[in-house]
Amino acid sequence: MAHIENKALGSDTGWAQGLRRHYEAYPYPERDPKDETKRLIQGSPSHILEIDHYLFQGKRDWSQPFSVLVAGGGTGDALIMLAQQLADRHCPARILYVDMSEASLDIAQARATIRGLDHIDFRHGSLFDIQRQDGPFDYIDCCGVLHHLPDPQDGLNHLTSLLHDGGGMGLMVYGTLGRTGVYHMQAMLKHMLASKARSPQDEIALARQLSAALPDTNWFRRNPFIVHHKAQSDANLYDLLLHSQDRSYLVPEFLDLIAHANLEAVSLMEPALYKPETYTQDRKILAETAPMSWQEQAAFAEYFAGNIITHLAYVRPQGRSTSSVASFEDPEAVPIFREPAVGTALQQLRPGQKTQAKRGGTIFSLKPDVLTCDVLKAIDGQRSWGEIKARLLSQPGRLKESRLDDAYRGLMQHLCDFNLVLVTR
Ligand SMILES: C[S@@+](CC[C@H](N)C(=O)[O-])C[C@H]1O[C@@H](n2cnc3c(N)ncnc32)[C@H](O)[C@@H]1O
Repeated sequence: MAHIENKALGSDTGWAQGLRRHYEAYPYPERDPKDETKRLIQGSPSHILEIDHYLFQGKRDWSQPFSVLVAGGGTGDALIMLAQQLADRHCPARILYVDMSEASLDIAQARATIRGLDHIDFRHGSLFDIQRQDGPFDYIDCCGVLHHLPDPQDGLNHLTSLLHDGGGMGLMVYGTLGRTGVYHMQAMLKHMLASKARSPQDEIALARQLSAALPDTNWFRRNPFIVHHKAQSDANLYDLLLHSQDRSYLVPEFLDLIAHANLEAVSLMEPALYKPETYTQDRKILAETAPMSWQEQAAFAEYFAGNIITHLAYVRPQGRSTSSVASFEDPEAVPIFREPAVGTALQQLRPGQKTQAKRGGTIFSLKPDVLTCDVLKAIDGQRSWGEIKARLLSQPGRLKESRLDDAYRGLMQHLCDFNLVLVTR
């Protein structure tokens, strides 16, 4: 393993050594490059449709150059997804990946090689090594990394300094409430492991033994939102319970982190998770929360739901005068289903037929009427809202334009809140 030594990673002792030891032994997430021939893993943040929708008004011209930094890219999930999506659009993209774990980098690189993604610059080192002259970047992915830095604010401030004025970032940090009990486990394990050095394998064995021995009263054992230790791979379990450097955030703390880096949160993802009305229809409660700002509603929703394990946000530099979020109501906006299979299923619904699906601990439900079914069927990722409208208004029968506008607006808001539909060019 190459020796990394710089100010940002610290000396060879302390947190940097612990982190390196961890991610060299257990590159995260656990991936086999051979699987690239079978499937493309897609997620948030950094899905190209989300980047376009939330940061570029759904109008990004992918035939133009696009520079990306994947900071702490691990074994490459976001890197491979975005690099593949950009390649599919023949975008002249420049992608820089950096990670301090050589074992993780090797896996990410092998995945890219199998896919023939040759427009990626792989760097082994710290995200603090990346300088503005390496960019500036139109987009930065930093998923599951800031909460492992000794000073996350320092890390985010540095990433902001690398960002193009018109660009944005996709961030993910741990959520405090959903991880209830995790830090109790970490504290016990730290205490037990303090006296004598052990191999990562021995540490995992101890963590499994501790989990199995927990009484029913223990918060980790009682937390149904954390995958049971028996179902966790070694890499996952190490990441969850034996991390040398790890903290979590409540929504206001995450928003403060973002604001103190001179960034603004464009959206938390998925938006529905951060809206009280997703969780209750109680009119009194909703009347109390309605006057709150979206940030206050998000903080309320986190307490109300109690199960949010990670917080994702799209962010951009503060002070820009126009919104970077796409408007569905722009006649040129082209609505597109984020996952084609979900779109197909929704288009097969009959009027009055109800569908329900679990999404991130919440329930998405839809019971379309005749008009909503027509709108759903007209979405093909090619037609603009203006074209959809003209098409539906030209059908036999006297459809009122304002009724169609309302049906479209309501449907789009609902689908967008659950990250099922986005806007593209
Ligand atoms: C939990 S993993 C997340 C990997 C990837 N971003 C993902 O979401 O799948 C955290 C990664 O951040 C890397 N990392 C932590 N601190 C770093 C730093 N200062 N510079 C570069 N990479 C870092 C670790 O090596 C590890 O691969």
